[in-house]
Amino acid sequence: MAEKFNRATFTRNFLKKITRIKAPDEMLEQASEGSLEKTLGVWDLIILGIGAIIGSGIFAVVGVAAAGSPDGGVGAGPALIVSMIIAAIACVFSALCYCEFATMIPVAGGAYIYTFATLGEFAAWMVGWVLMLEYAVGFIACACAWSNHFVQFLSGFSHVLPSWLANPPVWLMNNTSSALKICKDAGVTDVTTVIPHIAGIPICINVPAILMIVLTAAILIKGTKDSAKMAGIMVVIKLAVIALFVLGGAFYVKPENWTPFAPNGFEGIFAGAFLIFFAYIGFDAVATAAEECKNPQRDLPIGIIGSLLLTTIVYVLVALVLTGMQPTSGVTIPTDFLKAPMAYAMGAAGKNFFAGLISAGSLAGLTSVLLVMMMAAIRTLYAMSRDNFISKRFQKLHPVFKTPHILTWTVCALSIIGVLLLDLNVAAELSNFGTFASFIVVCIAVLILRKTEPDRERPFKVPFSPLFPILGILCCGGLMIYKMQFASSSGLLFPLWLGIGALIYLYYGFVKNRNYENEVHNEKVALKKQEITK
Ligand code: ALA
Repeated sequence: MAEKFNRATFTRNFLKKITRIKAPDEMLEQASEGSLEKTLGVWDLIILGIGAIIGSGIFAVVGVAAAGSPDGGVGAGPALIVSMIIAAIACVFSALCYCEFATMIPVAGGAYIYTFATLGEFAAWMVGWVLMLEYAVGFIACACAWSNHFVQFLSGFSHVLPSWLANPPVWLMNNTSSALKICKDAGVTDVTTVIPHIAGIPICINVPAILMIVLTAAILIKGTKDSAKMAGIMVVIKLAVIALFVLGGAFYVKPENWTPFAPNGFEGIFAGAFLIFFAYIGFDAVATAAEECKNPQRDLPIGIIGSLLLTTIVYVLVALVLTGMQPTSGVTIPTDFLKAPMAYAMGAAGKNFFAGLISAGSLAGLTSVLLVMMMAAIRTLYAMSRDNFISKRFQKLHPVFKTPHILTWTVCALSIIGVLLLDLNVAAELSNFGTFASFIVVCIAVLILRKTEPDRERPFKVPFSPLFPILGILCCGGLMIYKMQFASSSGLLFPLWLGIGALIYLYYGFVKNRNYENEVHNEKVALKKQEITK
């Protein structure tokens, strides 16, 4: 007789499956079987951290954070340094939680694996899915920003370069929505004269961004150590350029520009803190390289907290000099200041050569952010393929370079599609949402594992727990809710992304994991039978 369907049993079983936890010891054992090379030392990690953090945030976003946006968003004014410190404090609680996990479970995957160890299968998949917003969609935003800076850089050489290169066609440098906006701002009435159309559809291909994505993928396939070296060169260039700005610009500071200190009060300070939070995204990428660390227990906390601390110092110095050189309230703010504030301030001080150097430094800065962002996306997906959430084929390593080359080219292809479809601002906002969500989950996960496995060895412990993880949850949650009020399309795209993620899990990850469990069970039964018949 057929068994009667029992809703309660089905629900109980279903909940048991989706909250299945993967023990940290199992993760460590799996990681020790893998063949990712252990090549990274403490300086490599700090360089990776600074490489991931200092990018478009300080080279571009800082202008709007200080002076406000043309559509009426208020800026912090000289109180930008306060905004920066607030954003850094919001990050540091989560950073400490990352350190506790990264030293306890030093395997590839970051927040994704920490969630698997505490909240279970479904939550882990969702965090991995959300991390793709932070890393992969953030990577797309940075590739678009790189392209914008590149166009600006080329236009600085208009007297030596042929005009097609100094002022390239708009449809070869932007995605469709950006190109249409540029045409609108320039008062172009018939866009078909500027942008080619096929069957009435405008065709725009952001060539510099696509070339940069392919180049980043190729460098990463060549090897993590080489990528770290490359990121190291870029980090030195961008820090040198920032030092040049701070030391050179200090001579042009007019103290009267620092008053009023906070022209828009707390509203301006918090708006600035929210915006500049984007400039801190990236320190968590260090944790995703845990499996490739030579001495993760000692080096990871230094790498994570060290890069965050150094970046905060750099940002505060830049904010002081920038707001001292350029008035940020009570005057009309030039658009060029909002796009590239440091270069603009130097140019306005009559130092055009230094302004050019700063533009070049911005390109270097963005290049290292691209490298680390893509690496973090790949390492997270690599960990997810181990757990049957995506095909095991992606685990295949390159025979010579020992890097996951199939996965890297797949991420490369998807990023190119993303660059063709997504607008820079929407991509950056989505990346922020992914970051807030993953930071909150990591703080929760620390609290859970402290309860479920209190005796597990913790080479690094978050001080003042549970206060610090709770403050991390409140800071990131507060910023996320604050952002939700103002977000436009990203506010809708974020829940949509979560919904699509849940469906993919139900139709693929859930099924694959049950099949895997059945295979393991059948193998065990076959082994037992063999033993009995012997
Ligand atoms: N923090 C990175 C940047 O500012 C995302 O570009």
